[in-house]
Amino acid sequence: MNVSFQVMGKKTDFILKSDCPPSFEKSADGTCRLVNLYQFYNSVQGRGVGGTQTALPKHRDGFTPAEIDLGRYLFFDPLLSKDGSLSCASCHQPDKGFSDQRDRSIGVSGEKVSRSAPTLWNVAFLDKFFWDARATTLEEQAIGPLFDPKEMGNNPANLLQDINANRVYRALFKRVYPQSTNISLVQITRALSAFQSSLISLNSRYDRYAHGAHHVLSDREIAGMNVFRSFVARCAECHQPPLFTNNQVAVIGTPEPEGMPFDAGAEITFNAKKLRGGFKVPTLRNITKTAPYMHSGGFDNLFDSVEFYTKGRGHAVPEEESLQLHWHIWEPNLTKEEIQLIVEFLGTLTDESLSPAIPTSVPSGLPVVDQQYQQQLTMTEQNNKNSAIGNGE
Ligand code: HEC
Ligand code: HEC
Repeated sequence: MNVSFQVMGKKTDFILKSDCPPSFEKSADGTCRLVNLYQFYNSVQGRGVGGTQTALPKHRDGFTPAEIDLGRYLFFDPLLSKDGSLSCASCHQPDKGFSDQRDRSIGVSGEKVSRSAPTLWNVAFLDKFFWDARATTLEEQAIGPLFDPKEMGNNPANLLQDINANRVYRALFKRVYPQSTNISLVQITRALSAFQSSLISLNSRYDRYAHGAHHVLSDREIAGMNVFRSFVARCAECHQPPLFTNNQVAVIGTPEPEGMPFDAGAEITFNAKKLRGGFKVPTLRNITKTAPYMHSGGFDNLFDSVEFYTKGRGHAVPEEESLQLHWHIWEPNLTKEEIQLIVEFLGTLTDESLSPAIPTSVPSGLPVVDQQYQQQLTMTEQNNKNSAIGNGE
């Protein structure tokens, strides 16, 4: 599928792929199905939940290659924001673990939003979105940033008008959704979900180890893995393999950075006092790429993030709050060496081999990632360079 257009005076080809992304197979109906070794494991008959050979939970797939690729153009296109300044990729950058290396992201107004941008790797396996689990599908989630005045600041009427006025998008959407005459919000959020569901990261060195190639991890990394999943550290109770999240909300009592008010998190979503200060257990996949850490970027590096768990149950909870901390949050008394081993183990969870190609141009003709934003990021990057994996000194 090839659509040639003049964009800003240049002839540009917009091609919607007809092949599925790597790791997906095209089925008879023309849709892409995920194929992964973990799907061959059976957690019940196999080695039990939490072991290295645990099956994957349900996931989203079944999108056509063209739909996934249309989603890729939308994801990188600043046309989706109020003033053409931000795309989804501004805060979810492929080369930054689909995050932005900020403690809290910056929206159209130039102000910081209240939380940090999570990675998008493996979102196909999630059934709760946002730190406070307030959305249950990727489609519902996408409405958040698009129309939040602090994020992309757009509104449905304006978005639909801009996108329907664009000849390239009209042609591309027509190819993917031939039945309809106008581009709809449902189609936009569905295509975005198709693209995001293709971001699979399950081929790290850890995964090769899990599938039986035991030589790929060093002795220290294996030692770190063993501390991580021990009943002393208890990390794997919540950060359960193979996704390194159990898809649950937990109250663990992380601190807010100085000057930030207490964040009630999932208490508000579920209207439940016992979830006050509760957040979604984040995946630890590609974790070395996404500093700073926690819901509002309270920790600069992995050492500090891991050390948090051994500083005493509730040590960072403000005096006036009485939170119902999860029972796996306790006093494991990890040594500095054990913390360091865990940090080294977390480094084995990096896999960006299926990173999608960043489009060189998008249908709106707007710059793919805002220049000024890029510059600010480069500065933050320099600051973070040596602190992404701290040494605790
Ligand atoms: C201004 C920066 C910014 C932009 C632009 C942005 N996001 Fe986000 N994204 C965030 C932040 C911050 C969060 C977490 C917010 C929260 O939990 O309250 C988030 C959360 C998410 C999540 C939830 C992930 C999870 O594990 O729960 C998904 C999915 C997502 N964004 C996709 C998108 C898509 C798709 C777009 C474009 C339509 C987009 N984002 C645009 C900053 C941004
Ligand atoms: C009771 C469940 C639970 C246990 C046990 C647990 N975690 Fe977490 N973890 C969470 C939650 C919830 C968050 C997010 C908290 C927040 O943002 O305030 C988190 C966040 C993290 C983060 C930051 C992730 C990011 O993307 O910002 C790291 C790193 C981490 N945990 C590592 C560990 C390690 C290592 C252990 C064991 C020592 C551990 N966790 C034990 C629930 C848990």
